[in-house]
Amino acid sequence: MLLTTYINLSYLIGAVAFVWGLRLLSSPDTARKGNIWAGIGMGIAIVATLAYPLSGAENNYAWIAGGLIVGGIIGWLAAKKIQMTAMPQMVSVFNGLGGACASVLALAELLKYYDGSMSLGVGQLGIVLFTLLIGAISFTGSMLAFAKLDGRIQDKHVILPKHSVINLFLLIGVLVLAIVLMIQGQAAGLVLAIVFLVLALIYGFSFVAPIGGADMPVVISLLNSFTGLSAAAAGLIYNNQIMLVGGILVGAAGTILTVLMCEAMNRSLLNVIVGGFGSAGGPAAADSGDQVAKVATVTDVSIQLFYANSVIFVPGYGLAVAQAQKVVKELDDLLEANGVDVKYAIHPVAGRMPGHMNVLLAEADVPYPKLLDLDDANAALKDTDTVVIVGANDVVNPAALDDPGSPIYGMPVLEVWNAKNIIVLKRSMNPGYAGIQNPLFFHEKNRMLFGDAKDSIQKLVQEVKNL
Ligand code: TAP
Repeated sequence: MLLTTYINLSYLIGAVAFVWGLRLLSSPDTARKGNIWAGIGMGIAIVATLAYPLSGAENNYAWIAGGLIVGGIIGWLAAKKIQMTAMPQMVSVFNGLGGACASVLALAELLKYYDGSMSLGVGQLGIVLFTLLIGAISFTGSMLAFAKLDGRIQDKHVILPKHSVINLFLLIGVLVLAIVLMIQGQAAGLVLAIVFLVLALIYGFSFVAPIGGADMPVVISLLNSFTGLSAAAAGLIYNNQIMLVGGILVGAAGTILTVLMCEAMNRSLLNVIVGGFGSAGGPAAADSGDQVAKVATVTDVSIQLFYANSVIFVPGYGLAVAQAQKVVKELDDLLEANGVDVKYAIHPVAGRMPGHMNVLLAEADVPYPKLLDLDDANAALKDTDTVVIVGANDVVNPAALDDPGSPIYGMPVLEVWNAKNIIVLKRSMNPGYAGIQNPLFFHEKNRMLFGDAKDSIQKLVQEVKNL
């Protein structure tokens, strides 16, 4: 009795640590601490859960130790090895495994239910089936999202004609089976429950299949909220408060993030799910028509930056690919030393995951007050001498504002054309992730500095040092 009280108290402390961690995660300068607090919360939850069998419940310590060691080593190595650019894929795999965990827990309960060693009321059976369903959808959906993001599977290989109709039928099939399982109770038998599981796994895969490559971060966030819900439902099955609270927090955070990302792209969730935006994947050939982009030299750009009053850098996915954040900071320091006011314009969906640019710039020790959000940046750009776009493309595409036929029409963008001069650093005329051409490159104020962003900025640093 006393032990159970301590366990529940520990769960409460763990839950408070989760909430505090989330609170700190809402700002880049406290995010690192937030992660540590959430980790402490999880540590407390694990230790308290491990103490549970001491109260007389069955003891499975050998299996648990094996799982902890194997899982811990894989998680540690993966986190050490992973490149920042591949972070969304890793989040997707971890999320999918969370869903699989919830499904396996539900399956274990169903095995006991159907062999008659455990009874479940209709409500409890409903919760177990819900856990199985959502966990399974999250698992196969996340695995496909991983394969798409990692370039292992292309959209065209998994999209079938009339895919949304197929998905609708699959969903109806899954829901009908769930109702049959609940009505028939133990008489339905394990085989029907396994058919239900297989159908849920197929639905998870099929649900993600038609969604365009560029929308994968949104989908991962949505699947993340599904995993949270399945973990919360598993918490209900085991009457485990920390699983319930943790699951609800993940579910809520995932949902909020999904909504914020959709808002930043000015698209509805339904449009993301059936839209196929960016499904062209890879770099399509640039259709520049008769237009010709003006090209700059390193010397021109370095002089222009050195004598400017104000410069704004616009980082994008290419900054992450080139790992140019530290050389950008070096250039920033040199310019500041010459009296240039340097700022960074951060678009909410620049890069491939929320906060991608903030993380990279924090790694290079760029002070947070220098980072301007979309609205502040658009106000500041009007009074800026030179804007330097470092591997960004879709987030500075004027078609989002003036071309109703563009797939990104309506998405708020950084209005870099309001600055006096524009310099774009990228390797070619290839489009960004949405797979569309960018008229900015042909704007009269713009000049292209072709090459790998890190390489180009290193050359700029050298030239500026010589001025
Ligand atoms: P993108 O539009 O994807 O453009 C990145 C550009 O970087 C490419 O055009 C590429 O051109 C260039 N690049 C790649 N490697 C480079 C290198 N080593 N050196 C220099 N340039 C390099 O990036 P963005 O502007 O950041 O936009 C993000 C896109 O992802 C948007 O479409 C957004 O909707 C989507 N998205 C993001 C999120 C989140 S949460 N961030 C979520 C959902 C969707 P070259 O190949 O010619 O070099």
